[in-house]
Amino acid sequence: MNADFQNLTPFSYAVIGDPISHSLSPHIHKSFAKQFEMDLDYRAIQVAPEKLDEFFEVFIQEGGKGCNVTLPLKEKVFEKISRVTDQARIAGAANTVTVIADELSADNTDGVGLMRDLERQFEMDWRQMRILILGAGGAARGILYPLLQKSPKAVILINRSMERAKHVQQAFASYGSIEVQPANYVFQQPVDLIIHATSAAARGESADCDTLFNSAQSAIRSTTRAYDLMYQLHDDTHFCKWAKANHIKHSVDGLGMLVEQAAESFTLWHGQRPEVNTVLENLRKNHT
Ligand code: ATR
Repeated sequence: MNADFQNLTPFSYAVIGDPISHSLSPHIHKSFAKQFEMDLDYRAIQVAPEKLDEFFEVFIQEGGKGCNVTLPLKEKVFEKISRVTDQARIAGAANTVTVIADELSADNTDGVGLMRDLERQFEMDWRQMRILILGAGGAARGILYPLLQKSPKAVILINRSMERAKHVQQAFASYGSIEVQPANYVFQQPVDLIIHATSAAARGESADCDTLFNSAQSAIRSTTRAYDLMYQLHDDTHFCKWAKANHIKHSVDGLGMLVEQAAESFTLWHGQRPEVNTVLENLRKNHT
């Protein structure tokens, strides 16, 4: 996509990030719009972090109504916008920006998107569940608040950096209890769900997660399920491959979460909730 967003005006809806050409959001939002026979202008726009102020200025001036935000801008966007929802404030990151009376308002629909996808994919008896999260970065922070609100039996976090894990534990202390264990922890009690939230695969460093995965191995029982926040359209992710190799019967990647968070943003902007299943199926079958 054109890096010079000045040439793309007038705006309506968009997804911003850097890089952005891989983004599925334009396809997803346009598929939702078709369900309502809506002619939606939704584009992918490359915005470098240092160009964010300039972008928002032009976006508002040129009639922009809403934009989704992806890597590496989620935290930066949150820091720049003063009107934020609880979801964005607690996650410290925003993935959805709405222009209301020429002012920017930031929200985060990632967490809700995950909750909806988990409930669609698995039977979630939240209060009985022990949930293990691998990773303590932005992706983990984005899901912890809605997860803790479901009052699971236990949330356990393991991370390469123990310091970062403890920091997250403290940051969320007022919303619920998180048990923090070292990356090489050996579990004495199994868990019901393992959520992979590291960015190692995106960084091309999947093999570095072996310590975390070995630890998670000790938490598996026959009914344990696995969820990867990352996705790959036509192949299992590294984590899903690991889950299968370790006899986890139900493992899914985060494509459903991506479509669900988009559905939340769409509902917020257009006041109509789209159907996600067919969009998800079409992406897996037909999108290259
Ligand atoms: P953010 O998502 O906030 O930008 P990040 O630096 O990309 O943060 O890291 C996200 C998560 O992936 C963190 O839990 C990080 O572990 P550390 O806190 O120990 O850095 C984890 N992560 C990234 N690369 C990793 C690797 N090669 N091995 C293990 N964990 C990794």
